[in-house]
Amino acid sequence: MKRISTAFLFFVCLGCSQNVTQQQRTTTANTPTPATNTEAARPAKDPEMDRFVSDLLAKMTLEEKIGQLNLAAVGFDVTGPVVSKNVDENIRQGNVGGVFNTFTPVAARKLQELAVNNTRLKIPLLFGYDVIHGHRTIFPIPLALSTSWDMNLIEQSARIAAEEASADGLNWVFSPMVDIARDARWGRISEGAGEDPYLGSEVAKAMIRGYQGDDLTRNNTVMACLKHFALYGAAEAGRDYGTTDMSLQRMYNEYMPPYKAAIEAGVGSVMTSFNDINGIPATGNRWLMTELLRDTWGFDGFVVTDYTAINEMVAHGMGTEAEVGELALKAGTDMDMVGEVFLKHLGQSVKDGKVTEAEVDLACRRILEGKYKLGLFEDPYRYTDEARPAATIMKPEFIEASRDIARKSMVLLKNNKNMLPLKQSGSIALIGPLVNRQREMIGNWSAAGDWKQAVSLEQGIRNVVGNKVKINYAKGANIADDEQMLKRLNAHGGELDIDSRSSDAMIQEAVRVARNSDIVVAVVGESQGMTGEAASRADITLPGQQLELLKALKKTGKPLVVVLMNGRPLALQWEEQNADAILETWFAGTQGGNAIADVLFGLYNPSGKLTTTFPQVVGQEPLFYNHKNTGRPFGGELLDKYKSRYLDVTNEPLYPFGFGLSYTTFDYGTPQISKTTISPSESLEVRVEVRNTGNYDGEEVVQLYIQDLVGSISRPVKELKGFQKISLKKGEARMVTFTITPDDLKFYNYALEHVLEPGDFKVFVGTNSRDVQEVAFRVQE
Ligand code: NOJ
Repeated sequence: MKRISTAFLFFVCLGCSQNVTQQQRTTTANTPTPATNTEAARPAKDPEMDRFVSDLLAKMTLEEKIGQLNLAAVGFDVTGPVVSKNVDENIRQGNVGGVFNTFTPVAARKLQELAVNNTRLKIPLLFGYDVIHGHRTIFPIPLALSTSWDMNLIEQSARIAAEEASADGLNWVFSPMVDIARDARWGRISEGAGEDPYLGSEVAKAMIRGYQGDDLTRNNTVMACLKHFALYGAAEAGRDYGTTDMSLQRMYNEYMPPYKAAIEAGVGSVMTSFNDINGIPATGNRWLMTELLRDTWGFDGFVVTDYTAINEMVAHGMGTEAEVGELALKAGTDMDMVGEVFLKHLGQSVKDGKVTEAEVDLACRRILEGKYKLGLFEDPYRYTDEARPAATIMKPEFIEASRDIARKSMVLLKNNKNMLPLKQSGSIALIGPLVNRQREMIGNWSAAGDWKQAVSLEQGIRNVVGNKVKINYAKGANIADDEQMLKRLNAHGGELDIDSRSSDAMIQEAVRVARNSDIVVAVVGESQGMTGEAASRADITLPGQQLELLKALKKTGKPLVVVLMNGRPLALQWEEQNADAILETWFAGTQGGNAIADVLFGLYNPSGKLTTTFPQVVGQEPLFYNHKNTGRPFGGELLDKYKSRYLDVTNEPLYPFGFGLSYTTFDYGTPQISKTTISPSESLEVRVEVRNTGNYDGEEVVQLYIQDLVGSISRPVKELKGFQKISLKKGEARMVTFTITPDDLKFYNYALEHVLEPGDFKVFVGTNSRDVQEVAFRVQE
């Protein structure tokens, strides 16, 4: 088999016109040590840990070492196409380093005892799980967490998740997912922090602080797992698992920052992504896993594959199962999730001289170090205290936090004539397939969350306004009518109940209910299974007959409030033109119904802002605010032909990045800049006065963007470089100050050097990425 085994070749080919090899580039882009994937090359760490792990490794047989590289899926959840077999026996044989999908102290202890009592060296297991937006107390989906723009709350959500998960037998969570996503067709856009590298980096750091705290050995902290390294969100055409082919400049400037920020924040482990990157799957990509991740960024934890990602390299066309196993190990991948390729083939590969025992040692060492950092060698049962779940899980303060975070994540997209907040009197036609959907409320990847404990919107409204408002309910439409789609969703836990009435009959009933009520609140959107893994959609309008339902409701002439529940940006042209108010609530978690009711009735004034651009139509995707200019930017002249535009739709989004309304209004003063000329080592300040000019107290996310006007490579039209969420009472004003540092002005140039290029810059300050005021400054050489 022909194999291109080094990243050196990979980059020489890629960059042949650039006159610089990757080794040089990596070095100029901050690199310390040269790449060598053996134990001898490992960076110096904690000497006690080093000694402990070295002593242990010296006692281990090759088989025992390979056993540590195996991660088995067993227990209460199925999160991939196959599951591990004979797990108990494999643990007894020393063939397992960790398991995932098993939780509760009782279940985890049982497996831990198998490992500790039956294996020669008594090496404890890791217990991992997809704790993505809460463990038992479920928070809004990650995309929604990001629309709160509140890093303290995001950290708090991860802290609570860690408290619950660690009380429940777990010591390792497969979060945060920091993949930049710019294509709303991709179902996993719901799992990340949106399209922006700066915001994404802040969210990544907050989550890692929340999960890991500052001491991993404590029994209430867990090891985080950064995923999916790398570029998983850039899948071609938004189709899950798709290829990623991208310039290094785009990678470094636009996609890598959140991963890098997470490494700098000390994340303990990294998960490989399924996609190939410029031709080499991430899991077997040595440049990615060793040269960039470890040698350049200094990552010193272990790398686990995604689910069977080594095996999948066979379908990628990288070789036989044994060969792709060798490729993965040599690339710097340490642990094999479910696929058992290492278990089956590595022993022979060592015998055949295809990999060295030193390479196996290095992977094994990193996994043992992970266990050491968690304190598992001191006490393998640290996370299996049976008294803890009852005292910890779904504590009242956790539930309260989930309600608070949920309402802070909601985005008011439209509010014509102050239709919202609703009055606590009269009657409401509460219509739509999502009115009572508890299962939808906790969203996809809701881990061990019990949807039966989720508060539906109808229940939430009743909780908040009691009998003061008369609620008239009609379902109005199914979430989807396409039978194939429903079968697919229900085959994987969709729990969708389908009304057998015709859609006409359902709509007519809803219209009758609307006519007998003062106002219509239509609760429409997606089912939770329409986003998440393997849930890409080519049509991102409201599914099924829901738009027809809205059109019929509009015709009644009653005020129409649309409450959206969905996990991605949707194309909502008709809705924007015709609804009186639109509230984006995402999938809001355990307390979703209460939180939405708080916002609808004005107990909380919405403050969320979009972190993904909403398109007018799906054909605009991928659509994002921080794009490059073209040589022929479209200026809006109708008859201008030779410009970068569509014939059938404008270039504008429906709602831009950073957009979100409030029940109050905020006025921005003229931004002031401390200096108009600086040297490359100086910082400057931008100040702007923000005043609450409306009738409610409220919170505003003040945003700062820059544009580098002339560069050695083309630069985006805008880049977020700062934000502050401030709270202002009615009539209150505050001066908001941002500091722009030299680092904020840097970017990776064509040679991948992180540089500040002197010249002219613009600064934009405003309430979203579109509605801004600008000031200018120059960096002089
Ligand atoms: C596959 C998913 O891509 C990943 O995010 C998840 O952590 C693993 N399965 C484990 O369930």
